Amino acid sequence: APGALLDRLGRPLRDLRISVTDRCNFRCTYCMPREQFGPDHEFMPHSELLSFEEISRVAALFVKLGVRSIRLTGGEPLLRRGVEKLVEMLAALRTPEGEPVEIAMTTNGSVLARKAAALKAAGLARVTVSLDALDDAVFRAMNDADWPVADVLAGIDAAAAAGLGPVKINMVVKRGTNDDQIVPMARHFRGSGHTLRFIEFMDVGATNGWRMDHVVPSTEVIRRIDAVFPLEPIGRDDPAAPAENWRYRDGAGEVGVISSVTRAFCADCTRARLATDGRVFHCLFASDGHDLRWPLRNGADDDQLTGMIAGAWWARADRYSQLRGEGGTRDGRVEMSFIGG
Ligand code: GTP
Ligand code: 5AD
Ligand code: SF4
Ligand code: SF4
Repeated sequence: APGALLDRLGRPLRDLRISVTDRCNFRCTYCMPREQFGPDHEFMPHSELLSFEEISRVAALFVKLGVRSIRLTGGEPLLRRGVEKLVEMLAALRTPEGEPVEIAMTTNGSVLARKAAALKAAGLARVTVSLDALDDAVFRAMNDADWPVADVLAGIDAAAAAGLGPVKINMVVKRGTNDDQIVPMARHFRGSGHTLRFIEFMDVGATNGWRMDHVVPSTEVIRRIDAVFPLEPIGRDDPAAPAENWRYRDGAGEVGVISSVTRAFCADCTRARLATDGRVFHCLFASDGHDLRWPLRNGADDDQLTGMIAGAWWARADRYSQLRGEGGTRDGRVEMSFIGG
């Protein structure tokens, strides 16, 4: 649109991901490894988190600047007390054209069964549930909290029953750890109406011991499923969507692949991230953010805050995954549990 806010690579601002807590009841080895996030780890004190009022105020400014979809993440967003109140506040936002903004959530599903109905009533549109294995032993080892898979499956069912579907299921694939779960997961969710997406294990943060030989390229994931349940490509839901979708030829639904490592999608990246502490990050792999908490708490007015958000987007040139593909890397990357994936 004319006058739209574009960054230095011509990308518009469309999506806002908000991390509402840095805490999680899981210790997924690729995200919050226990050695780094053990009993001594200090999470952020409550006073340093943005309040719901502060989050809503910032979100409204992002919406004025072009954001059309908001996703709550964490850590585990359902661990933030009263998060359905925040959902309600965000669901009341309207675009300059008077349209509602889509509010979604990415959760580990562990306590979703208890909360699905309240989230729906508060105005949540959809949930994405992370689930890395169907086999209970593999799942318990991957979440490293001995959490049973049955709770997450119950959460997915409850979400669908509450009208939060179709549910997207995110599976991070790590070679040698859960790649034997690719076909069982596909078999389980075929025909369920939910869409299973396979995510290439990424080098986010600085603690997850990422190695290229742990990545199962999406082409291999598709080949392995296609050998059992034939697939055909159908492309992306929209050009800026991270997932490329494939359809079961027998009509049993779709799967998606998110290939941040082997097929970077930075050229169409329209996402900004509001971290737990009120810093804005533009790239999942950023090492530095733009602090909004200090101005928020020291009298900045909406125009000043809008100027900061817009100025930072305008100056943005991130394309980490592409650069990684060209052999580059970057030190000091922020942790995923802090900026929300
Ligand atoms: P929708 O697909 O819009 O419903 O949102 P979703 O969070 O369910 O999925 P999304 O496609 O936004 O993201 C799924 C996963 O893809 C995230 O959890 C990340 O692992 C990865 N991802 C999302 N956005 C980006 C991005 O901008 N860069 C990279 N490298 N990975 C991303
Ligand atoms: N690589 C890929 N995906 C990851 N996620 C968390 N850490 C990583 C990683 N290192 C996923 C989670 C969740 C989403 C927010 O990001 O499993 O589905
Ligand atoms: Fe928690 Fe999600 Fe990170 Fe796992 S991936 S430790 S569930 S925030
Ligand atoms: Fe966007 Fe950074 Fe991901 Fe590229 S690596 S798609 S710029 S968040």
